[in-house]
Amino acid sequence: MTENFVSGEKRGHLILVGFMGAGKTTVGRALAALTGRQFIDLDGWIEEKAGTSIKNIFSDKGEEYFRALESEALAAMMQRTHCIVATGGGIVGRAKNWELMRRLGTVVYLENDWETIVSRIAACPDRPLVTGKALEEVQALFERRRPLYETADLCVPVTNQDPAEVALTIVEMLSRETHRA
Ligand code: S3P
Repeated sequence: MTENFVSGEKRGHLILVGFMGAGKTTVGRALAALTGRQFIDLDGWIEEKAGTSIKNIFSDKGEEYFRALESEALAAMMQRTHCIVATGGGIVGRAKNWELMRRLGTVVYLENDWETIVSRIAACPDRPLVTGKALEEVQALFERRRPLYETADLCVPVTNQDPAEVALTIVEMLSRETHRA
């Protein structure tokens, strides 16, 4: 894999965004396996630095505190290059995160339909922004965020696709863009 397949390269990262349950971690791992790049899960990074789970951070310190840690974790990616970075679903909510993501590399939206997201969230409901919420409320959050996700450099439909296939599609789309540039 050449180092310059990333369009708009700055720190050369591939940043995966999308709603909870969109498959950012699995596709991220598949992309890392395919490209030989390092995979970083931003939520995992935050948990490691904080020494506790995202769930505990939300319950002990609240969402705003978590969002500050999330922006800090994203900023820490400036110290690295050419990684595959899976983000948490809410990273798109802060304009300053977008400024950072644009400087970090190429932002890729994993676009899943609502039905698939619901089934994934239902299978793993241990998420602070889902627990105790009505489905309509979670769907409203998804609809509010959708236009933000859609401002990514690349939008990749992933519904019913195998993660390895999605990873291949992303690499192909990016190399096509690089060759066009
Ligand atoms: C969140 C998504 C979670 C995690 C946190 C907040 C969100 O990550 O960052 O619970 O606001 O959508 P995943 O998208 O990996 O579930």
